[in-house]
This record gives sequence, structure tokens and C-alpha cells, in this order.
Amino acid sequence: MKVRFAPSLLAADFSRLGEQAWEAAEAGADLLHFDVMDGHFVPNITFGPLVIRALKGKISLPFHTHLMISDPEKYIDEFADAGCHQLFVHPETCTHLHRVLQQIRDAGVQPGVALNPATPLEALDYVLQDIDGILLMTVNPGFGGQEFIPAMLPKIVRTRELIRMSGRDIELGVDGGMNEHTVQAVVEAGADTIIAGSSVFGGPGTVRENLGRLVDCVAVVAAG
Ligand code: DX5
Ligand code: ZN
Repeated sequence: MKVRFAPSLLAADFSRLGEQAWEAAEAGADLLHFDVMDGHFVPNITFGPLVIRALKGKISLPFHTHLMISDPEKYIDEFADAGCHQLFVHPETCTHLHRVLQQIRDAGVQPGVALNPATPLEALDYVLQDIDGILLMTVNPGFGGQEFIPAMLPKIVRTRELIRMSGRDIELGVDGGMNEHTVQAVVEAGADTIIAGSSVFGGPGTVRENLGRLVDCVAVVAAG
């Protein structure tokens, strides 16, 4: 299984966002993760489609966008137009989850579902045929730099099994607290996409060195 890396710009230096996104691409990232927060569903506020659009066409990586906003259905078309390739919505924010996923698909974007740590996997039961990605939150959404919640490991294992039973090719991402101490365990549990903010943009070295360390940790799993 190929493991993909999606650096989260939440931990980047916003005064030079384009440059940091470019550094991630040059360092070998597979995707670029955007954390959209509204100060309502989560306590923090970040940015909206305008900022994402500013990077459209300038970075060769697919835009992997995580909507932590209430009423996401109001903004799907704007995010699609801003250049997002994948849009993850939280079922905790959607009264009509199935409809929102169709709306994302109709906008020409890959739909995905993101689950808070305490949200049961049953939230996926009737939408597995409609999604291309699952994002398991391994911290409570809202802030970067939090600690990985170890109770999420069995949840990753169960999600991998659900995907296998569905017979579909669904990305399984993990988001929050990913660093050189935690990344091996989540890949062993079945994650194939690693979202990492602080350890890539806030780590001790350059973006290339920091991402390289995570990639090396995962290579050990593949070899072992
Ligand atoms: C948290 C965000 C994450 C965050 C991860 O709400 O969804 O994507 O950027 O940051 P780190 O890697 O610092 O835990
Ligand atoms: Zn995220």
C-alpha cells in the first residue's frame, strides 16, 4: 500500500503561504491539506475559498480540503471553483449528508467524510458508495499542534475493514498529531494518507527534512 502525505498549511507561515505550499510540493508531498474553520463548528477561524483560489494553478498538488464549517452545503460550489480536488465534510455539520456528498460530486470534486474522534463509524454506513475518502480525526478539530488520541487506532483498523468490505477504492486519511512517534502506528493500523501540519511546517528542519523524516518512518513499516 502506497502511503501518501498531505502537509496541512494550518501550521505554515501565512505571510508566505504560496512559498510554503511550493516547498511542500518540492519536498515530495502528494496532496496539500487546507483546514477551513468557521469559529462556529470549531472554535478557531482560518480562511475560506478566496485564499485557496490564490494558490489555484500555482501548485501542482491536488487540493485536499477539510471543511470544519457549519452548513457546508452553502459553500460547496465556491470551494469547487476555488480549485479544490477533494472536499471533506463532517456529518456532524450536515443535516442531509447524502445530499451534500452528491452536491460535491456534481460540482466535479471528490467527496469525502471527516469524523470527529467521538463520532461512531456508523455515520458512514449508508454513504460508503458515495465517497472517495474518509478522514479520521485523531485530535479534536480546531487547532494544530495537539496530541494524537491513541484510542483512534482501533477505529482506523475498523475503518480499513469497512473499506475492504465495501469493495471500493476509498482513501483513508488520519488528521491530527502526526509525527515521527505516531505515524508508524497509524499506517500499521491501515491509514494510507497522513495529514501533518506542525511536524512538517513547525519541525526542527526545513520542510523537506521534516517531511522526509515522516516518509522514512513509514518506509520502515513497509519494509518490516
Ligand atoms: C485540526 C486540523 C488538522 C491540523 C493538524 O483541526 O484538521 O489538519 O492542521 O495539525 P497537526 O499536524 O499540528 O496536528
Ligand atoms: Zn484537517
